[in-house]
Amino acid sequence: MTDSITLCRPDDWHLHLRDGAMLAAVAPHSAGFGRAIIMPNLVPPVVTGAQAAAYRDRIMAALPPGAALQPQMTLYLTDTTDPADVVAAYRDGIIRAVKLYPAGATTNSASGVTDIDKVRPVLEAMAEAGITLCVHGEVTDPAVDIFDREAVFIDRVLDPIRRAVPGLRVVMEHITTADGVAYARSGGDDLAATITTHHLVINRNAILAGGIRPHYYCLPVAKRENHRLALRDAATSGEARFFLGTDSAPHPDSAKLQPCGCAGCFTAPNTMSILAHVFEQEGALDRLEAFASLNGAAFYGLPPAEDRIRLIRRDRPAEYPTSITAGDETVTVFDPGFPLYWHLETA
Ligand code: DOR
Ligand code: ZN
Repeated sequence: MTDSITLCRPDDWHLHLRDGAMLAAVAPHSAGFGRAIIMPNLVPPVVTGAQAAAYRDRIMAALPPGAALQPQMTLYLTDTTDPADVVAAYRDGIIRAVKLYPAGATTNSASGVTDIDKVRPVLEAMAEAGITLCVHGEVTDPAVDIFDREAVFIDRVLDPIRRAVPGLRVVMEHITTADGVAYARSGGDDLAATITTHHLVINRNAILAGGIRPHYYCLPVAKRENHRLALRDAATSGEARFFLGTDSAPHPDSAKLQPCGCAGCFTAPNTMSILAHVFEQEGALDRLEAFASLNGAAFYGLPPAEDRIRLIRRDRPAEYPTSITAGDETVTVFDPGFPLYWHLETA
């Protein structure tokens, strides 16, 4: 049995670090990743290049000395985003991508896009400049069942965008369905999809069967088991179009444990141990590096990391905190529901 694997340092192509005390608390838990795409859904959102540069400085200040993390900033697309600002921020090396949240789809998305026609000039400028659009792929139509919102988004919004703006580079963020996997596979080199750690582990029963478990509630919400299996197949396939984006999304327990609790799983601390477990279960440990370290960088036109990490399988489980402290608050760490025998070491 394999008991040690060495990988190019992993990247996290979808990460929430927040700001202030929460940023200070969570940034060290992502410090061992290489590149990380930083989500712009702060309050207020990151909408200009200057705001993205200032946020990057705050992130760098929150990281421990010697941290590997290189934040890759994003701009939050709104109905009024100026195409020239986006292109300038990209050419100046301030941003790596632009994030599309349909208005109202998730946490802090009130400023999101209300009508795709309003942002078409931005999307056309992005296609021209080779800038990636990271998409939260859920419709917000209240008439659409929440478990169908991803599949309906693909038909109603994503496919029409890609036809209207040929050549636009798109990452389908945190796909949760077999429909998402199939659509990602139907595209060319300009289409990819991130998959989170938690969606490889939980299905919707984990949230709702035998009691309601707020710490497993995230958006897009976890779906039926057949969808989880499709995600595991995609992630472990080695296909270049699928790569890791943890969507690690910390919230204070005081905001999760409410009659109306907010969405997000905090997976930054234990993600690599969980992924090694999942890939081992699937007989695909030799493909973990493609998923976590190689495919995303290649999509974004970046070289693989030059340094390496090592995962070692030990007889005793790795110890992760069940929660961390952020200012006066606690944040619960995602519990995969099984012991984690893969320990992360820097090689
Ligand atoms: O579960 C989620 N949490 N999904 C998102 O899309 C946003 C994120 C957050 O910012 O908390
Ligand atoms: Zn997210």
